[in-house]
Amino acid sequence: MAEEIKIKNLENLRQEQFDVLLHISRLLNAAALHENLVADALDLAIRVLKAERGLFAKRERANDFNIIAARNIDKQDISDLTVFSSGILNRVMDTQKPCLYHDIPSDPTVSQFQSIQIHNIKSVIGVPIFLHGAVWGVILIDSRGNRAGFTQENLQFLEFFSNLVSLALDKIITMESLADENQILRNQLEMRRAIPDMIGESPAMQRVADLIHRVAKTDATVLLLGESGTGKDLAAQAIHKLSGRKDKPFIAQFCGSIPDTLLESELFGYKKGAFSGAASDKKGLFEIASGGTFFLDEIGDVSAATQAKLLRVLQSQEIIRLGDTQVKTVDVRVIAATNHNLKQLVAEGGFREDLYYRLNVFPITLPPLRERRSDIVLLAQHFIKKQNSKATIPPVTMNKLIEFDWPGNVRQLENVLQRALILCDGATLEPDYIFLEEESKNRSFHGTLRDIEREVLLSRLNEFDNNRTRTAHSLGVSVRWVQLKLKEINNQE
Ligand SMILES: Nc1ncnc2c1ncn2[C@@H]1O[C@H](COP(=O)(O)OP(=O)(O)O)[C@@H](O)[C@H]1O
Ligand SMILES: [Mg+2]
Repeated sequence: MAEEIKIKNLENLRQEQFDVLLHISRLLNAAALHENLVADALDLAIRVLKAERGLFAKRERANDFNIIAARNIDKQDISDLTVFSSGILNRVMDTQKPCLYHDIPSDPTVSQFQSIQIHNIKSVIGVPIFLHGAVWGVILIDSRGNRAGFTQENLQFLEFFSNLVSLALDKIITMESLADENQILRNQLEMRRAIPDMIGESPAMQRVADLIHRVAKTDATVLLLGESGTGKDLAAQAIHKLSGRKDKPFIAQFCGSIPDTLLESELFGYKKGAFSGAASDKKGLFEIASGGTFFLDEIGDVSAATQAKLLRVLQSQEIIRLGDTQVKTVDVRVIAATNHNLKQLVAEGGFREDLYYRLNVFPITLPPLRERRSDIVLLAQHFIKKQNSKATIPPVTMNKLIEFDWPGNVRQLENVLQRALILCDGATLEPDYIFLEEESKNRSFHGTLRDIEREVLLSRLNEFDNNRTRTAHSLGVSVRWVQLKLKEINNQE
């Protein structure tokens, strides 16, 4: 244990090892921790111990370690954990004590470990990394072939090393979780609203509600189908809220009309230098969603290359950051949504069949509003309340609402009512305030170029639920452009 390290043991260290410890303690004490800190420290340890490889691993679950850093003598990353001895990793975890093995081939207590035999490992030191009194992970240093074996002195060095790094871990972990929290909050802001209730008592909606409740309790992948505005986002949030993952993050990513690299770097993260502009390592949303739910919205628009990567997530819960070689496992429940006919897309070759089957484990189709007209009354009342309005809806107006076909479904109903409420000034919602335009996409414009720009921008914002990022992507402009235009429009009005 950490306490057992005797300061006087420091005397035993050679000058070179002592210098390295000093150097590392300076690195760790620097005001800002630099990102490759652990890898750099490991390089130093490998060098001074004349080892061949080093591993700094975090224990996730029993027999399950995640690589924080793994380096060889050439200061290269090693991405495959299986090249290290899991037998020794587990032994350090179990005993919570450092261990040193040299001349392994003749030591019967470890020579039977498979990776030791395959990789011809000759000498190993493993030390536990403690955090808040518990073993957090393990540092392993090994060498192969005809190199000199490690000594007791080397072990002491590595224990000091491990203790120094544990001191910094706290800081690193706090920073990481702050960064994650920040991302989660940003994502929620993007979603903008608190999770509202799903309104609807029609038989069709009751069936949907029943399916949502049943599937929520499982970890099954859910595919939400249905026209735009039928409540797919809402359903995805409801599934998360009703699931055992409700206290973990719910992360949504809109996948439509976003360039490949941008989408993939959001989803999977990247390594520094993976592409121009990748100035530092970045975690992907899949990693951030760990333990929670991942909502892939508009999955039908994803490119073939990204589809292949998503398949990997669904098949083996594995991701690789862009520009990286290291495979990471993630624990996320996936919900996907599309308003396309995915099956038809598969038939036309626009969507991978294997991915389709992986997604289609538990499909739920949200019915269009025109097939559940009995819900319109409830929804209308709900939206009036949501606007804090006291307006009443006379039967003649309600009939108009019930008879309309609502190509934009619940979203369109909400928008139409919002506009009507502004016009009626909180009194009675006369039918004249209800503007039921079919999609205005093909209408010819008579205004100036500026009018047209305004019209297109506002209708696109409407389509994307006022989400500026998505609107900008769909128009092929920057978010900044959208903001500027909105400012312009607001100033004109
Ligand atoms: N059953 C419902 N009850 C209340 N509001 C709903 C319902 N279905 C959809 N909405 C609202 O309609 C809008 C569009 O829903 P959304 O989930 O974004 O649809 P989709 O993702 O299918 O396009 C949102 O503002 C949502 O809150
Ligand atoms: Mg949606």
